[in-house]
Amino acid sequence: MTIIILLLAYLLGSIPSGVWIGKLFYQKDIREYGSGNTGTTNTFRVLGKKAGVVVLLADVLKGTLATSLPLLFHSDLPILWGGIAAIIGHTFPIFARFKGGKAVATSAGMLLAYSPLFFLYAVAIFVVCLFITSMVSLSSMIAAVIVTLSTILLPFIWPTILPDFNWVLTIVAAAVSAFIFYRHKDNISRIKDGTENKVPFGLNKKK
Ligand code: G3P
Repeated sequence: MTIIILLLAYLLGSIPSGVWIGKLFYQKDIREYGSGNTGTTNTFRVLGKKAGVVVLLADVLKGTLATSLPLLFHSDLPILWGGIAAIIGHTFPIFARFKGGKAVATSAGMLLAYSPLFFLYAVAIFVVCLFITSMVSLSSMIAAVIVTLSTILLPFIWPTILPDFNWVLTIVAAAVSAFIFYRHKDNISRIKDGTENKVPFGLNKKK
């Protein structure tokens, strides 16, 4: 059963929503435009708001559904393993020659399945970072670090959001954050050069 759940979660994560929506409805392969990434940000950039919102929802929800699979199958498998399999699928998708996204939206989907309140907290952190930096990549990385630290601190300082300390969540969040940094290595170079793409939102928005 464990293998079936992990495989299903990987296959769900592998759905390259940005690539498929681009090819199906816009006759464009988003991997050939913008940053070349298959995720939400590049979809917004290349295909516009409508497609961007759809891809954001699809990538978040596939993470949520995959993380919930152990519960749906009444399995003892810890739910976060389904999320990890989906994140691996999202970044190395079998349906897109193993070249996928940067793990952000699907990781957010995993958080949504773990705790909707903690998910909203993470989204709020991300939006504040985006407002300050106007860079999705930098905001994703900063939010990943803050979310990881929050898994330790919130149970003590704001238990309404996250009542219990769960060391598995902390380790998974730390590992996913490190992976998110690794997947953003090109963005990190551009941030250092001052050439990273900005969005038309926030204090440093694209003019
Ligand atoms: O989630 C991906 C985002 O952080 C950066 O995307 O296309 O600007 O490299 P992109």
